[in-house]
Amino acid sequence: MARQRMLRFPEGFLWGTASSSHQCEGGNRNNQWYRWEQQGHILTGEHSGDACNWWKRAETDFERAEQMENNALRLGLEWSRIEPTEGWWNSSAIDRYRQMLKELHRRHLKPLVTLHHFTDPLWFADRGGFENEHNIRYFIRYVTYVVQSLQDLCDFWLTVNEPNVYAFMGYVLGSYPPGEHNVSRALHVLRNLMQAHVEAFYAIRRIQPAAEIGYCLDYRLFDPASSFSPLDTLVSAVQDAFFNWATLQAAETGRFSFPLNMALAPIPRASGARDYHGVNYYTRDIVRFDPTRPAEFFGKRYVRPGAVHNDPGLEGNFGEIYPEGIYRVLKGVYQRTRGNRPLYITENGFSDAHDDRRPRAILEHLAMVHRAIREGIPVGGYFYWTLVDNFEWTEGWGARFGLIELDPYSQERTPRPSASMFGEICRANAITESIVERYAPEAMDFIFPQSDSELAKSASV
Ligand code: BGC
Repeated sequence: MARQRMLRFPEGFLWGTASSSHQCEGGNRNNQWYRWEQQGHILTGEHSGDACNWWKRAETDFERAEQMENNALRLGLEWSRIEPTEGWWNSSAIDRYRQMLKELHRRHLKPLVTLHHFTDPLWFADRGGFENEHNIRYFIRYVTYVVQSLQDLCDFWLTVNEPNVYAFMGYVLGSYPPGEHNVSRALHVLRNLMQAHVEAFYAIRRIQPAAEIGYCLDYRLFDPASSFSPLDTLVSAVQDAFFNWATLQAAETGRFSFPLNMALAPIPRASGARDYHGVNYYTRDIVRFDPTRPAEFFGKRYVRPGAVHNDPGLEGNFGEIYPEGIYRVLKGVYQRTRGNRPLYITENGFSDAHDDRRPRAILEHLAMVHRAIREGIPVGGYFYWTLVDNFEWTEGWGARFGLIELDPYSQERTPRPSASMFGEICRANAITESIVERYAPEAMDFIFPQSDSELAKSASV
């Protein structure tokens, strides 16, 4: 019998799903996102409500993750629960998080804990949030309290989720709170979030010298509509530089590149302030020069015509499903950081309510992660976004990223085929021919290219 082809992942590779507090817990009424929902900014008119009810029953979903033989899980803490008013610490919130973390350990799921994922307590937002550099000290005080309280249950921290998305969506596009359209303010918020990360890094390091501490950025590809057009090429390169690499460079060196360094102060002690690079990757945009869009550096972004794409969402921003992109991004981060730290895919996911593109998409993206690993890029784990459909910010319940379908009103869960497929991959620590055959046979040639027998031979790492 012919041997089964497979792409085996390194020993100890982390397999998990990613989530955030506001999107999953339910009952969060004390942060700026709740207020944003009340003000009617959710495009579907919905609210986060009970979300996935994790505040009361996260354990039932942790059990599902264990059944999928995941060995890790990324979840967020909600600052507005822990410090509901300035300087007042709610120990019962900490107790609840302790229960959750204990349960994850009991189920052999290594917790990766996010300290900030888009939500700010109302009192903090009302003082100007991260627009004001002086407010960073409040964040550090919260981080210190949390790490002191939970250090026996977690040693793998993610300080700030996607500073570039928080700044861009909240201060350029205005579709996240505070709904501004002000590039200069966006840049200051971005800088302050990076400083918040750096200071959080050292605060955690002091308490827990052996902890693994990082942050993550959203990396999005911007490719020119026509590579023969100098203007398309220029504007896509500028978007790429600003959205992706300017922040990474600031994190690496503490300095923004020209022209941002004219407006933004350096970040003290940045270089060295991370133990891993968190990579969130979803999609790419095609960019055409458009003189009517100064706020986006004169580039109009759109989904490549004919591309396989995510369910579009009301804002149409979930985009193309483009597996090579995850490889390009991993390579870009690796080269720009000269391989100085391991990388984790802290998010990668697909909005696909009918699950008719997700199995193939997961397989093809993982094959590209495997390719990066074969080429020597140290990727330590993959966190799929997300375990159970959750509250997708401005899109409300309209975008479905979960391996498991959720009816938020009845709280009924229905695993999608992708859930059992992901379980099989985690169990095998590999993509096997049989998995591809059963879940997405159309991906076979992409994953095990016929023409490239060398590639298949070198596929075990
Ligand atoms: C965010 C998640 C979000 C996901 C899908 C990421 O940028 O971190 O909170 O649900 O994208 O849009």
